[in-house]
Amino acid sequence: KRVAILISGRGSNMEALVAAAAGDDYPAEIVGVIANTPKARGLESARMRGIATRVVPQRDHADRAAHDEAIGAALTELDAELVCLAGYMRILTPGFVAAWAGRLINIHPSLLPCFPGLDTHQRALDVGVKLHGATVHFVTEAMDDGPIIAQAAVPVLVGDTADALAARVLKAEHRLYAMALAMVARGQVRVEDGRAVFSTTS
Ligand code: GRF
Repeated sequence: KRVAILISGRGSNMEALVAAAAGDDYPAEIVGVIANTPKARGLESARMRGIATRVVPQRDHADRAAHDEAIGAALTELDAELVCLAGYMRILTPGFVAAWAGRLINIHPSLLPCFPGLDTHQRALDVGVKLHGATVHFVTEAMDDGPIIAQAAVPVLVGDTADALAARVLKAEHRLYAMALAMVARGQVRVEDGRAVFSTTS
């Protein structure tokens, strides 16, 4: 499957997907990386890895819908079949989400439905959970919601700081995202009536 990745920042999950896709038998090819800002640090590392990049800045567009349309045009141009959000920090419009329903996935740094939104690691420490982690899910209109594809848990250790916990989760994210994308690309998980349906045969 032809996969495009949307980023806004560092791009370490994008790098993990690019590395996984370079492996033998991986069912997805990363055909492009699109950022909503030229400042996204991941753009440079994508270029260094020989991946096509596009910058679609929101300030060039009148509103959110026009911006998402431009992103959609870039995806069409790349001939993308699946889209991975990887630290993409803009909420997508309902129209965009509907157009890509079942083909649009996101990684979130918590065990959803706990801690949607920002600052997940500090919030996990504040609440005192002993397990934390990451979730890959199909994107729906609601933020950090949508049918769950896969999760990875990590322990919260005594004396953890938000940074230490974030680093532990991030390592898990990189493995998790590569595995979850492979499942989607192989057709082993799909959305049916708003739920994730899994099969082991395809
Ligand atoms: C990750 O923690 C991801 O789960 C969250 O934003 C962070 C992006 O990091 N959505 P990177 O840009 O992939 O390094």
